[in-house]
Amino acid sequence: MVPYTMGGPEDQYGPFHFRPCFATMRRMIEGNDEKPILVSGVKPTGRPHVGNYFGAMKQFVDLQDTYQSFVFIANYHALTTVHDSAALSRDSLEMALDYLAIELDPEKTTLFLQSDVPEVTELAWIFNCITTMPYLSRAHAYKDAIAKGEEAGVGTFAYPMLMAADILIQDADVVPVGQDQKQHVEMARDTAEKFNRLFGETFKIPESLILEDVKTVPGIDGRKMSKSYGNIISLFAEPEEIKKQVMAIVTDSKSPDEPKDHATCNVFALHRLFSGSYLADIEKRYREGGMGYKESKEILIEHMEKFIAPLRARRKALATDEGRVRQILKNGGEIARERAHAKMQIIRKNSGLIIT
Ligand code: TRP
Repeated sequence: MVPYTMGGPEDQYGPFHFRPCFATMRRMIEGNDEKPILVSGVKPTGRPHVGNYFGAMKQFVDLQDTYQSFVFIANYHALTTVHDSAALSRDSLEMALDYLAIELDPEKTTLFLQSDVPEVTELAWIFNCITTMPYLSRAHAYKDAIAKGEEAGVGTFAYPMLMAADILIQDADVVPVGQDQKQHVEMARDTAEKFNRLFGETFKIPESLILEDVKTVPGIDGRKMSKSYGNIISLFAEPEEIKKQVMAIVTDSKSPDEPKDHATCNVFALHRLFSGSYLADIEKRYREGGMGYKESKEILIEHMEKFIAPLRARRKALATDEGRVRQILKNGGEIARERAHAKMQIIRKNSGLIIT
């Protein structure tokens, strides 16, 4: 059978098929080879910065060859705090663009919108029914809301059960998450065990895969790169923006001739991510003196631009072809939903919801 792509021409930025061929689609639904299953969700937030990229986004790309990957945009979860429909909708699409631009490959990773698998809300309800309030009140997200003096929403309270449903409905083996989400994965494991105990063996017990800590990416002031500190460099920055941000990196006032301590230099910290094979040489020049911070920054700008340019170009190309991105999400949603639907039949039967 000739695989069909409804796609436009494969452009210079690589193939983006509109629709995986039938065989690929079946393989994605039924599970392929013996590759373990990876599931993770990302909440749609604003524009990503290089800290988000190295701390989280990149890992999905690195892992997509090893795992059968399901990555979704967690819009149901976002709804616990975002009540601006235009923003939620726009940010969800933008986030799909971000991930495709960094080369999450829709042929390898099923990329979808959480709400295209409404079965997870049904499963979350079932989990709510086997979970206690004292147990859920120990969850960080809920405790944080309370600590901030907020009146936590019911959605925020039940958040870990929806997350458990996302994970368990796809039979995940591994769940890559940041340290802050580890507890939620533990709760998914507990919930799977509890269901299995009550209703018989139904769910796999997933493992969390803790992503490299984002804090290793410093912002332009040396603190962890974070939007709330205003010290970020945007992942898809234009050349002018890269230049401006790098020139603003805080350094001490050593003159060009003086030897410098690379280990404590904020510019060098970013060289580690962007300067690859030049790193040893730059380190040597720091030690020996003779390179000013200005020159170090100019080299960094050059390397960052080299790194960012193709990402930026791919994102722009995708942005002009939004229909294609929507189609990728739609296909991903169909694949994820078909799997979820099949799993739900078993869950319904095991829990007595189907009259036998
Ligand atoms: N709670 C996660 C976060 O805030 C997002 C998320 C939702 C998720 N469902 C998930 C992550 C399932 C992993 C698996 O980052």
